[in-house]
Parts: sequence; structure tokens; C-alpha cells
Amino acid sequence: MDNILLKVENLNIEFHDHDAPERVVNHLDIALEQGGILGIVGESGSGKSMTAMAVAGLLRRHDMTAEGEILFEGKELLHASRKTLRQIQGNDIGIVFQEPMTSLNPVRRIGWQVEESLRIHRPEMGKEERRQRALEALSQVELVNPQLVYHKYPHELSGGMRQRVMIASAIICEPKLLIADEPTTALDVTIQLQIVKLLQRLNKEKNMAILFISHDLSLVRRLCERVVVMHDGSMVETGRTEEIFRNPKEGYTRELVEAIPKLEKLKDIE
Ligand SMILES: Nc1ncnc2c1ncn2[C@@H]1O[C@H](COP(=O)(O)OP(=O)(O)OP(=O)(O)O)[C@@H](O)[C@H]1O
Ligand SMILES: [Mg+2]
Repeated sequence: MDNILLKVENLNIEFHDHDAPERVVNHLDIALEQGGILGIVGESGSGKSMTAMAVAGLLRRHDMTAEGEILFEGKELLHASRKTLRQIQGNDIGIVFQEPMTSLNPVRRIGWQVEESLRIHRPEMGKEERRQRALEALSQVELVNPQLVYHKYPHELSGGMRQRVMIASAIICEPKLLIADEPTTALDVTIQLQIVKLLQRLNKEKNMAILFISHDLSLVRRLCERVVVMHDGSMVETGRTEEIFRNPKEGYTRELVEAIPKLEKLKDIE
């Protein structure tokens, strides 16, 4: 793989809030090239979000330890200072989580929230320039009337619109990597597909790499060139998505692939 953007090596994450430490990510290796799209799949509790949080530098807690290496453009993130992480979060790495209502501030207008990363990372920008950039980001995520959305509060938008707003906030500084942890799970099937197509477009237009975490294998198949299958904190299989779907080598992956409803499979072939 040329031009590696993100390299996770031998990542181990343990919780210490019980008598015996609990290992939730185990000897995990991941590589993602610039502009690539990597999926992480696995059942609930397999360690997908813990991995995403570690890459995003959001795992600083007293009840857990993380070991190994997370290299982003060659810079070590796992043990980086808070200052280094703050420079990268929202700037070089954008993050979108599953439930936008918990990430959006209910009493702030959308425009103000979308501009947050600009206030942190582009302090030289004036108010008007920030507003223009926010409107541009809102239209990049295909919100029909960015001017209107800019002045709304989160509760005035639909779930799909809120998730687009979250993506606009995450991409406003044009990050090299977008981490999307179950970004479509709370949405209906039609909106899920629209969001995946939107991510695909942003990936192509901006050469923005994506780490896409989902338990929805048919979406992963549409979007991701490569996939990592996780189970109980460990990687059980990795490779080109199409190959893994056609010819899963490990029993666990086979079970996951066989569990995709037949209708979904038909939809994929269309
Ligand atoms: N504070 C904690 N103490 C101990 N274990 C925890 C704690 N928080 C999370 N875990 C465990 O870490 C494991 C991995 O969780 P993680 O959130 O990464 O799973 P996931 O693959 O994202 O699942 P889902 O698909 O449900 O989002 C789970 O078994 C979970 O129980
Ligand atoms: Mg999760």
C-alpha cells in the first residue's frame, strides 16, 4: 500500500474498572492509504468504537489503558500531548458519530455549530468568511437550502438533515481523514443510502480518506474498498471488501455475510 495516511499497530485497549482488566481491543493492526476507504465491521461490542475513539485521540480516561502505535501521517497519536491532539482533531481528522442529537447543542443554531472547527483552527478568518464557508459546507452535504438550515436549531431538522449537518461540521476544515462511526444507523434505509453516496462523493472530490464503522455489511460493501472484520476486540479477517464478501475465509465472517438478509443482497446487485 502506497501513501499510508493512518497506521494502527498492535493496538491494545484495556479497561480497569472491574477486578480483572478487560481487554476490549486486542493486537489490532490497521492501515489506510491517503484517499482510501476502510470499513470496520463486527457485532456489537467487538471493539469498533473503541478503535475509532483511539484513532480520534478521544480515549484519555483514567479507567483504561491503550498501548501500541497510532501513526497519522507518521505522527504518533496514541501518546501525543493534548495540544497536538487538539491541533489534529476537527482539522486533519473529522469525526461523525451515530446519534447527531447527542453531538449537537440543542440551544445553538446550526450555523454557529458548523463553524466551531473554523473558530478553533482558522482564527484568522473573519465572521463573514466563516459564514460563507459554513454555507458552502452545508451545500456540500447536499442540504437543499443552506441559508435556511444555517439559522435553524437542531430540533427543527429531520434525522437525516442533522446527520448531514454533522458531516458538514466534520469536513469544514477539509480533513484528510473522516472517521464515521455508525453514521447512518439511526436513519431509514433510503436516507442511509443517500448518506453513503454523499460520503463516496466527498471521498472522490476531496481525496478525503474515510474510516467507516458499521454493522451494516451491505453499506460497507457499497462504500469500502477494504474491510477489517472484528470479533471480541481482535481482527479476524481483512482484505478487499469484494473478496471477503464473495469468499469469506473465517467462520465468523461467513456467519456475518450469511446473516445479510437476502433482500439486501439483491438490492446490492441492482
Ligand atoms: N467503561 C467500560 N468498562 C468496561 N468495558 C467497557 C467500557 N466501555 C465499553 N466497554 C466494552 O468495550 C467493548 C467494546 O465496545 P465498543 O463500544 O468498541 O463496541 P462496538 O463494536 O462499537 O459495538 P456497537 O456495534 O454496539 O457500537 C464492549 O465489550 C464494551 O462492553
Ligand atoms: Mg460502537
